[in-house]
Amino acid sequence: MTRTVIRGGLVITAAEELAADVLIEGEQVVALASSGSSVAEGWTAEHVIDATGQYVIPGGVDAHTHMELPFGGTSASDTFETGTRAAAWGGTTTIVDFAVQSVGGTLREGLDAWHAKAEGNCAIDYAFHMILGDVTEGSLKEMDLLVGEGVTSFKLFMAYPGVFYSDDGKILRAMQRGADNGGLIMMHAENGIAIDVLVEQALAAGKTDPRYHGEVRHELLEAEATHRAIKLAQVAGAPLYVVHVSAASAVAELAAARRQGLNVFGETCPQYLFLSTDNLAEPGFEGAKYVCSTPLRPKEHQAELWKGLRTNDLQVVSTDHCPFCFVGQKELGRGDFSKIPNGLPGVENRMDLLHQAVVDGHISRRRWIEIACATPARMFGLYPRKGTIAPGADADIVVYDPAAVQTVSAATHHMNVDYSAYEGRQLTGKARTVLSRGTVVVDGDRYLGRAGHGRFQPRATCQYLV
Ligand code: URP
Ligand code: ZN
Ligand code: ZN
Ligand code: ZN
Repeated sequence: MTRTVIRGGLVITAAEELAADVLIEGEQVVALASSGSSVAEGWTAEHVIDATGQYVIPGGVDAHTHMELPFGGTSASDTFETGTRAAAWGGTTTIVDFAVQSVGGTLREGLDAWHAKAEGNCAIDYAFHMILGDVTEGSLKEMDLLVGEGVTSFKLFMAYPGVFYSDDGKILRAMQRGADNGGLIMMHAENGIAIDVLVEQALAAGKTDPRYHGEVRHELLEAEATHRAIKLAQVAGAPLYVVHVSAASAVAELAAARRQGLNVFGETCPQYLFLSTDNLAEPGFEGAKYVCSTPLRPKEHQAELWKGLRTNDLQVVSTDHCPFCFVGQKELGRGDFSKIPNGLPGVENRMDLLHQAVVDGHISRRRWIEIACATPARMFGLYPRKGTIAPGADADIVVYDPAAVQTVSAATHHMNVDYSAYEGRQLTGKARTVLSRGTVVVDGDRYLGRAGHGRFQPRATCQYLV
């Protein structure tokens, strides 16, 4: 078995920081020992990676991506091949993508279709959640089977009537089933019925620009749906994970539920922490680049999201990576903001944006690793194989240069999308060497990964629940 030693770096996990060397055999970490100790000095290895002056961190776990998602009359522009390659460049070594059950279709058909898209194409390891697009007696029963296959979380939509939408009765049934089989219900919490009324009224009044996307998706309609989802989960006796939280008032709902002792969890995304309605209001049609749901909020919301991340009322930062090119895709909504495909690119940028948050003093280094690696791994049953550096864990490791300065740009990123939501932003910190299960996939400017290295990861159920 190939032995690799990573020498002289500062190992950072959610639990601790230590000056240690890391010994890898084959695909796994086998030992850590203080740098310079006789134990570490005694290790011999074929490959030695010098990490002096660098951080040695677990590979990022992005628990929310949409590679190749058919949506809004088009399809997300990153394939599993291009999207996982870009993730690797950005220091993310596991993604959890959303397989989709179509209306009238089964969970099995949806899951098989996603396996077919991903298998043999991924540069890094991957797992699936399942979107319940059609809650029926049949699909409720199928949930049990999927949990047994390691697809242990199910997304429901209170938004998008006519597409993915479930009414409260369907949501309650799915939650009850999840309470029985251990599946974690993930909620897109926006009142889609009310939003559609506001969309219709805005368009009738000639309000067609991208910025109206933010106005009609009112923050109180996120808070209301979040509140309702929490109560439905409470009635069902089910835990709840609310995805892509953007509104301060929705964070308050989560915080209140957690004070009550409910198993309610919240995820936010870099776009809500770093971008705002100012971007949606950029001149011309530029704002279309920032159309996603939940929408970007006024800047004041950002402080509440950072606070939530510090107080653990929000636990996870995922990207909701769902890229659409500006040319030909976002442009579908010229003259009608409601036709702009919803979603932002970001799978490559998350680790660096969150490191910038460390530099800016929003979060600590260990909290960075906790919200981007360890907690998503625990939340979705991948820990400690993923999300930490410890004996027995997969050697998904990033040697991270905390002093490297980079300027984010579509001209240099690796995502298959023709713009960057963070164009021109200067960030401090960058992944230097990225290992996926012991294999170096990125080394400085060189890409050494290969499509098909990444393996499907069956998951346990949420590890925060007893
Ligand atoms: O705008 C978004 N978030 N697009 C992806 C689909 C979803 O709702 O997560
Ligand atoms: Zn969503
Ligand atoms: Zn409330
Ligand atoms: Zn999403």
